Amino acid sequence: MSAIENSKLTVVGAGAVGSSVAYAALIRESARHVALYDIATARVEAEVLDLAHGSQFTGTSDIIGGADLDVTNDSHVIVITAGAAQKPGQTRTDLAGVNAGILRSLVPSLLERSPDAVFVIVTNPADVMAVVAQEVSGLPRERVFSSGTVLDTSRLRWKLGQRAGVSISSVHAYIVGEHGDTEFPLWSHATIGSVPILDWQPLDGQPKFTVDELDQIAIDVRDAAYKVIQGKGATNYAIGLSGARIVEAILEDEHAVMPVSTVLEDFHGVSGVALSVPSVVSAAGAVPIRETSFSEHELELFHRSAEALRQVADSIR
Ligand code: 2OP
Repeated sequence: MSAIENSKLTVVGAGAVGSSVAYAALIRESARHVALYDIATARVEAEVLDLAHGSQFTGTSDIIGGADLDVTNDSHVIVITAGAAQKPGQTRTDLAGVNAGILRSLVPSLLERSPDAVFVIVTNPADVMAVVAQEVSGLPRERVFSSGTVLDTSRLRWKLGQRAGVSISSVHAYIVGEHGDTEFPLWSHATIGSVPILDWQPLDGQPKFTVDELDQIAIDVRDAAYKVIQGKGATNYAIGLSGARIVEAILEDEHAVMPVSTVLEDFHGVSGVALSVPSVVSAAGAVPIRETSFSEHELELFHRSAEALRQVADSIR
């Protein structure tokens, strides 16, 4: 339960992702009050009812919601998931134009009703949408950021933990850059416990990781969402949990290190583009950790990621 008394989370968008963020937040008791907002009245009312019907089993968090923007009033955190979703065969950046339009009209109305909120953008392409939301809101960079590669990092840690034979919580590794096709792992910092990943001897007697295997794991993580979308049309549970976890870090003022995506200013030479890097997440929002060092190759990949996103951002100005 959050450190803020009567903490309020609003989730904007009652599609598969938004409803899953709300569901995860209720189960984890990420906030005292959870509001779900969508313009689609029947859909949002049905999701709110379905979630409310489980209240007996979800502790003290409660759920309200509807198609009136006033349900969002006085939120401490607003998670935006509204917008067109990726279909099989589409990339996240294909959605930029239409979703930027949605955010440009939504964010000012939300900010007016919750002037102190921290905004977490989940709508894809999440990094580009973070720039759009930050610009249109005029808020300081730390108060508008995207869930970025928090989910991709969880995908990476899960795979490494399985192979290494250790708990996911003992895997220390980050995916950084775009939440999308140019993302990459910061292998130079990846450890199991305190052991560098390539030195780790898996507990089940399997051989050590090789560079080729790590390259393949990076590709599998990058393409993971495509695989899920191919099979079931959307990803929702893991992003729902990732969103709820970020909300907790804000409402609990945790100062937790997470790879969220803020608009960078001279971060390893990148400015004006939002990219994920390990950042400190607290009630004030997200602040990139400037001391994070990159190898020469990682720096090259980071700049490639920035360039790709700059092109998408320029195309929708
Ligand atoms: C995901 O990575 C599609 O961005 C969504 O699951």
